[in-house]
Parts: sequence; structure tokens; C-alpha cells
Amino acid sequence: MKRAIVPQSMSALPASPAGAAAAPVTVPGLQRMKREGVRIVSTTAYDFSFARLLDKAGVDLLLVGDSLGMVIQGHSTTLPVTLEQMIYHTAAVVRGARRAMVVCDMPFGFCHGGGVAVMDAAVRVLKETGCHGVKLEGGVRMAETIRFLWEQQVPVLAHVGLTPQSVHAFGGFKVQGRGEDAERVMADAVAVAEAGAFAVVLEGIPAPLARRITERLEIPTIGIGAGGQCDGQVLVMHDLLGIYEEVVPRFVKCYLPDRTVFHAVGRFVDDVRSGQFPTEEHSFTE
Ligand code: KIV
Repeated sequence: MKRAIVPQSMSALPASPAGAAAAPVTVPGLQRMKREGVRIVSTTAYDFSFARLLDKAGVDLLLVGDSLGMVIQGHSTTLPVTLEQMIYHTAAVVRGARRAMVVCDMPFGFCHGGGVAVMDAAVRVLKETGCHGVKLEGGVRMAETIRFLWEQQVPVLAHVGLTPQSVHAFGGFKVQGRGEDAERVMADAVAVAEAGAFAVVLEGIPAPLARRITERLEIPTIGIGAGGQCDGQVLVMHDLLGIYEEVVPRFVKCYLPDRTVFHAVGRFVDDVRSGQFPTEEHSFTE
């Protein structure tokens, strides 16, 4: 039986960093959450200010996803993102996080050189950003690399199912693991868990399959488009705030109603045009 963490509104938290005095989230801590039936909350983050806000709001795991290639850079896939860019954004997120664990996505092209090549990149990521682990896309084919990294004490968050770096191989952002394909995704999840991944993202797979994987694995599953029975959920921050409108997958829930950010900017435009901003309140006296 899962227990939902009581949602905390920003206003309910103290303004001082004391709100973040709770113990930092760690790899063993996340695994304990699964055993105790406490759902893990994760979002993506790409900069200091949002990392600070998401951390204060109670997010456990901040993922610096290579989704930044789409929502920050405006590409149509995640493939163009470089290691330098991941390091730049991850370092900013780490400066904003007090309690949350921070994980950096390894960009496309860095995981195909095998263990030592990936280790070199992961060492740069951990040394130059201060983050706590890396995420790698791929199941069976990445298992040896995950094993090697974990033997070198690099925590790895695995990612199976609809892995966006495989968009061209899949022929689009398509749900994986339907029908007979379910056993392939199951084998991927089992392989990364046996290799030592500390948790696994399950993306774009049928909910019953995600439930079976979650029951079978000892490590936490973090779902995105994988139904409600995973050990945790992750959403891209821009999707949950409704500020990325190019592609809105069915699994996205927007927590800001009626394009709130868009309308706020629209009111600023109106106020400047009509001379209602700035007022004396926002101006300096002599
Ligand atoms: O790149 C990303 O943001 C991700 C998450 C959506 C899991 O991989």
C-alpha cells in the first residue's frame, strides 16, 4: 500500500532555508522510500532559481534532463545536447538544491563508448557540478556500463521504455512494451537493476507492465507516462507548469490552470502599453 507524501505549498514553508533543514535525499534514502511505500517525487530542473523553488516545494529528485534540448534550446529532439551544456545546467541546479538529490542525464553519444569512456564523462560531471549521480538511457545494452560505473562508485539512474535518445530508432516518440514487446522492456528493467542501477525511470509504457516491473524490482521505479503504480513519478518542469507548448504528451498534467504564465506576461504587456506600470511603488525617489 503506497502512502502519498502530503503536498506542501510554498506558502506553508518557512521563508528561510530552515525549510530545507530536512535530511538530504540520498541513494539509500530513495531506496528506503520504496521499502516504506513513500512515493518519490521528481521533476526536471535546468537552472538555479527553479531548482531552489522545486527543492523548497518538496521535490526529492531533481533530474537535469537532456530534455533541455527541447524545452530550453528549442530543438525537436534531445540529440543535439552536449556534455558541456549538461555540465553547465547541472552545476546551476546543484547550487539551488539543498535537500533534493541531483542527477545529470548523460547526453546522446556519450554512452556508446563503453564503460571507461562513460566513466570519464561521469567523472567530469560529478567533479565539475557536485551532483550525486548520472542517468543513462538503455536497458540490456547498457547493463555492463552501469555495472562498471557502479563498481567505480558512480550512482546510476537507469531509463528504459520510451527512451527519447532512441527517437529515430523507434520512428518517433512511441509507447514501448505493448503486447509481446512487454518482455523486452521487462528484460531491460531487470538487467539494469541487476547491474547496480539505484533506480530506474520507466517512460512511455503501459501501466500494467510498469506495475509488474515495480513489483519485480527491489530498486525504485520512477514513472513518466507509465501509470500510477510506480514507486515515484517524474515530470518535465515545463510540462507541469504549462510553459512548453510544442509537444504535450497525453501523460502530462499541467498544474497551472489556463496558461497562467502566458496570461501573466500578457498583463505585463498591457500594463506597459497603457502606462499602468511602473507606478510610484516601483520607482525610486530622489
Ligand atoms: O530528459 C529528461 O528530462 C528525462 C525525463 C523526462 C525522465 O529523461
